[in-house]
Amino acid sequence: VLATALTSVIYLASLSIKVGSARKAAGVPYPYAYAEKAEAEKDPKKNIFNCTQRAHQNTLEFFPIYITLLLMGGISHPIIATSSGAAWLIGRFIYVSGYTTGQPAKRIPGAAGQLSLLANLAASFHTVYRLLA
Ligand SMILES: *[C@@H]1O[C@H](CO)[C@@H](O)[C@H](O)[C@H]1NC(C)=O
Repeated sequence: VLATALTSVIYLASLSIKVGSARKAAGVPYPYAYAEKAEAEKDPKKNIFNCTQRAHQNTLEFFPIYITLLLMGGISHPIIATSSGAAWLIGRFIYVSGYTTGQPAKRIPGAAGQLSLLANLAASFHTVYRLLA
């Protein structure tokens, strides 16, 4: 469980680096979070920057939920928690790889990995139930 959590943290950190590289490639200065539309037609790299930024943001939005459920679920069901955590991570990899092509529709197959959060939600409830019982 802890190895899965650690791998996930390293993956999340790698996405920051990916955004930084896409920013540099697109020439989008700080503090702009996204590229301007007017410049988009001239440079597809700006669209890829937007997509990379969104892929990172979406992963950040879910990360606190994911990591909490992984660790809580892992207390009572380490095998389930690790398996569903690994499935989420693989889903994220597919999501980010698809999204960062610059075609947002390609992120969708990886989004299915979000369903694996439900297994750790159930495992987390069971952990709490066992501690209360
Ligand atoms: C990037 O996203 C911003 C904010 O949503 C949007 O205004 C802009 O048009 C987008 N630019 C490109 C290149 O897609």
